[in-house]
Amino acid sequence: TTVEWEAESYDMGGHDTYMHKEIHEQADAVDRALRGRIDDRFSTVHLGGLNLDARDARAVRRVKILGCGTSYHAGQIGAQMIEELARIPADAEPASEFRYRNPVVDPDTLYIAVSQSGETYDVLAAVQELKRKGARVLGLVNVVGSAIARETDGGIYVHAGPEVCVVSTKCFTNMVVSFGLLALHLGRTRDLSVADGKRIIEGLRKLPGQIEEILANEAQIEELAKEYAEAKSMMFIGRVRGYPVAREASLKLKEVSYIHAEAYPASELKHGPLALIEPAMPTVAIVPDDELLEKNRAALEEIKARSGRILAVAHQEQEKADHTIVVPKNEDELDAILMGIPLQLFAYYTAKAMGRDIDKPRNLAKSVTVE
Ligand code: AGP
Repeated sequence: TTVEWEAESYDMGGHDTYMHKEIHEQADAVDRALRGRIDDRFSTVHLGGLNLDARDARAVRRVKILGCGTSYHAGQIGAQMIEELARIPADAEPASEFRYRNPVVDPDTLYIAVSQSGETYDVLAAVQELKRKGARVLGLVNVVGSAIARETDGGIYVHAGPEVCVVSTKCFTNMVVSFGLLALHLGRTRDLSVADGKRIIEGLRKLPGQIEEILANEAQIEELAKEYAEAKSMMFIGRVRGYPVAREASLKLKEVSYIHAEAYPASELKHGPLALIEPAMPTVAIVPDDELLEKNRAALEEIKARSGRILAVAHQEQEKADHTIVVPKNEDELDAILMGIPLQLFAYYTAKAMGRDIDKPRNLAKSVTVE
């Protein structure tokens, strides 16, 4: 069975869909995720329900993050943040894949189950299997008191508030912000300096205002979406921090518009997908202003040389791109939180231009409580 949201029980507040409303709630939602958690005195954060003291945190040798769909993508960004800020090897895997491959469960690994609903069966089953094998499992969950929240040893509520649209937007953003908090916390029990902790805290505090800035650019995104809605298929590319952003943006577009989209690491283009590039196959490129900027620009050139159309999401106008959506710059480690937000609007306006049932895409349910 699947759990359907009682959509009618929440007010749409003047928006035409819950997706639009929830995209616009993100500045407030992020503010809620940060509230009461930042400790300026020691440049760290307090996460009440974590049940992990400094000694436990230091004993962690690896982090393995499990989730499905959008939550898995949030986990991929989270894994990168944990590696960067805490220098603990970390990766994310679809919960379903993990539980079917008889995984080696390691007592020094910290497992994190990510879920909006807290009821996704594949994630819950992975948690139960881990518990059976004596692992320590934390939850990063939105719905308070949900099955995954109850089964885990502790965790972080992402505080996104109720999400009604089948397609996740604000919850994804709050998950990634929550991973930022966790990475900072783990980092400060290890080698992350007070100065770097302070830098990340300042970055986190900037997020709500920067989200407002992105949303204020809605008219440009609407125009672009109308133009790109004619495509039959789209390519999304990103590199390292940008790659999970590309994957999530591609999923968003597929879910609401039904346009075929695939996401590739920019570096993998030349190993095959470049064969698909032609004017009818536009590419959406995530181009953060970080140490990989020049590499990303080279990928744009390769696409242009094959007459591919390019829509870039970047911190500055990209000369090789046909269009650029400029987003505000944060700290390199936190940029991934913001870069997907214009592409939520892009997916929304593309679906709207195509007359899709945005809040309830065909064949999908908000919470998948079956195998
Ligand atoms: C998101 O837009 C999806 N509809 C879907 O991928 C979702 O993220 C996935 O089913 C996991 O759900 P959960 O976060 O409630 O566990």
